[in-house]
Amino acid sequence: MLRARAPAKVNLTLHVLGRRADGFHELDSLVAFAGCAADALAFRPSEGLALSVEGPFACAAGDVAGDDNLVLKAAREAAARIPGLRLGRFSLVKRIPVAAGLGGGSADAAAALRLLAQANGIAAEDPRLVEAAAATGSDVPACLVSRAARMTGRGEGVAPLAGFAPLAAVLANPLKPVSTPEIFRRLALKPGETRSETTAAPDAGLAALVAARNDLEAPARSLLADIGTGLEALAQTEGCRLARMSGSGATVFGLYDDQRSARRAARALRAALPGWWVMPTMLR
Ligand code: C5P
Repeated sequence: MLRARAPAKVNLTLHVLGRRADGFHELDSLVAFAGCAADALAFRPSEGLALSVEGPFACAAGDVAGDDNLVLKAAREAAARIPGLRLGRFSLVKRIPVAAGLGGGSADAAAALRLLAQANGIAAEDPRLVEAAAATGSDVPACLVSRAARMTGRGEGVAPLAGFAPLAAVLANPLKPVSTPEIFRRLALKPGETRSETTAAPDAGLAALVAARNDLEAPARSLLADIGTGLEALAQTEGCRLARMSGSGATVFGLYDDQRSARRAARALRAALPGWWVMPTMLR
């Protein structure tokens, strides 16, 4: 049995540069990965391809072990590119909230590709795996790298941030799923339309992060008022340097100077936002 962690992704910044002719949006985003919020994936090579799902968020998205689960999609995309790839049985423990802007499904898919590579004696950097990642979903190439990186294009451009200093953070989610396509639709960009302003922060220093933004925050807030509530509650916690939404929401996060402040803020948030999922973590 082989095992892999699938850490949650946080978009520290997310600038939408325009809408492409194929409907996808051109992005420029700094992402980092959570030390404490992660799904767990196990793999046993065998004939065929199967998936079982358990854990606190196993039931959150309906038929989470169904055919469109990104673990199965990633495995099929890899098998289509790598002749003779031995597949098998995956078991997934879902601890990351679903449809939450944390790339949980993408992290699972990337973990599946890493496990398939390991089981088949394929290098993790094999271009066929990277292609399979991009074909599985926009966030999967970044999740394959699974450390702080700048994401460009639809998500296929991934440049690790050398010398990224880990950030103490608190993640908070109201446990209400948000549809990513719906949030992008609300931006209402026309095919081929570009935005002139905007490049993401060139580095992940706090001042640069503060100067940047998440362009999906306004459309997501217009859909779900809890996002505004969460951002305001975060901003009020002691030592909060930045409060922002991740991905297309609804997860919001705060950044703090150290782990102690983040843990203290998490305690305050659990009291302020009953029923929310709240997780202090290092982002790296
Ligand atoms: O690639 P993925 O399947 O994760 O994307 C989900 C949806 O998010 C897409 O169908 C699209 O509506 C939107 N999206 C986008 N531009 C991106 C990434 C995602 O418009 N770069």
